[in-house]
Amino acid sequence: MVKICCIGAGYVGGPTMAVIAIKCPAIEVVVVDISKPRIDAWNSDTLPIYEPGLDDVVKACRGKNLFFSTDVEKHVAEADIIFVSVNTPTKTRGLGAGKAADLTYWESAARMIADVSKSDKIVVEKSTVPVKTAEAIEKILTHNSKGINYQILSNPEFLAEGTAIEDLFKPDRVLIGGRETPGGQKAVQALKEVYAHWVPEANIITTNLWSAELSKLAANAFLAQRISSVNAMSALCEATGANVSEVSYAIGKDSRIGPKFLNASVGFGGSCFQKDILNLVYICECNGLPEVANYWKQVIKINDYQKSRFVNRVVSSMFNTVSGKKIAVLGFAFKKDTGDTRETPAIDVCKGLVGDKAQVSIYDPQVTEEQIQRDLAMNKVSVVWDAYEACKGAHGVCILTEWDEFKKLDYQKIFDNMQKPAFVFDGRNVVDAEKLREMGFIVYSIGKPLDGWLKDMPAVA
Ligand code: NAD
Ligand code: UDX
Repeated sequence: MVKICCIGAGYVGGPTMAVIAIKCPAIEVVVVDISKPRIDAWNSDTLPIYEPGLDDVVKACRGKNLFFSTDVEKHVAEADIIFVSVNTPTKTRGLGAGKAADLTYWESAARMIADVSKSDKIVVEKSTVPVKTAEAIEKILTHNSKGINYQILSNPEFLAEGTAIEDLFKPDRVLIGGRETPGGQKAVQALKEVYAHWVPEANIITTNLWSAELSKLAANAFLAQRISSVNAMSALCEATGANVSEVSYAIGKDSRIGPKFLNASVGFGGSCFQKDILNLVYICECNGLPEVANYWKQVIKINDYQKSRFVNRVVSSMFNTVSGKKIAVLGFAFKKDTGDTRETPAIDVCKGLVGDKAQVSIYDPQVTEEQIQRDLAMNKVSVVWDAYEACKGAHGVCILTEWDEFKKLDYQKIFDNMQKPAFVFDGRNVVDAEKLREMGFIVYSIGKPLDGWLKDMPAVA
């Protein structure tokens, strides 16, 4: 029986291993983590992350061939294939601070593997890492060699939160990079056999190690670039009377461009895009390519601009001040169907509103009050468990996450309980703006022709 151990029971490690377990009943999969509360939650009825479909998959194989444990060393020692899926955040201090990936967790996992291993191992980079990381990992593993053969593979994960299970069941592709030596190719084959249980062979791509590592950073940079491109257009649409949804539809019909990932928004968030682009920028700088670094940096600059442009629009529309005014914020997660708030645009928007002395009342169906208060640190806000409660007595409503339930709210009821004039600032273009205008709302939709009111009060970006 092949034994797999995954170090890191997070948003990637947990769902990915659960899907391997359900698709490969003959493989024993153990997910380990240094965080006891996280492992306890994976072993309980309330999983540590919200992801549609995840509960069913975990329940079907937990205790059979899927296990969650804090006994990291034991399970690493016993495994044939070790996935490393620890966090690789942006460095906050020292060399490369604010850009480079912090590989502290990765390095300590690699050192632990070297310490406890007594048999040959395939070590799989599942975390997103800078290109050439495998070389450094090889050095750590083979230093003080005990005659053990290690093969390092790069197998980046392309799942998106909110659709993780769907993405894992039917991936567009699985990417496996390995050394071009017989040993390297044998390891690639072994990992390929795991995925071949459910992924068609044509969708399993094998490359050299560096291509696989770089492809992950490149994919995220390209995806984020599409959003920044359409968000840049949304500003021009507002200035000219064009409608960004019509523009997106028209350009997306060109098969060379394609229709996906062209929704204008208050800005992209999530734990990956900004971190991975900053990482790419740093790698370009380190390789003496400042022009390339600046090109990708611009994707982040536009994203920051989009968030501050939104705050400015709210403030300028409401007579240039929100001081003392109640503003309801609907949605705090970085996208729908997740409780994750890492790098969510809601953090910057709420901080901007509080900075202008607004009284912010936040509702999100999946994010806890504790999490919101932690994210907003010194900024005083209130958190409620009902959208209507958040909007009661408010001067304005900001929609910051595209949760389906926000499309179905009783906006007449919300309007009746708000201060007048009542504003809706739709950061995700989810409401039927015309219908809301008929009720009496002043509505701002990203990249859409402006209400007369908003035209008279232009936002200063
Ligand atoms: P996460 O923070 O949710 O999970 C990482 C886990 O690793 C944590 O539970 C932490 O306690 C554990 N950990 C850290 N050091 C450890 C150690 N030495 N031993 C055992 N456990 C340890 O992170 P995530 O969102 O799952 O991301 C993991 C990696 O996958 C990152 O590199 C990320 O860039 C990449 N990735 C994330 C996504 C996503 O959508 N979240 C998608 C693709 C790739
Ligand atoms: C992303 C990548 O999509 C995934 O392939 C990678 O493995 C991890 O990073 P994730 O961050 O989970 O996934 O979510 P994603 O769906 O990419 O959304 C990222 C952000 O972009 C969200 O804030 C989302 O609301 C925003 N977005 C997305 C837009 O503003 N407009 C769009 O058209 C699409």
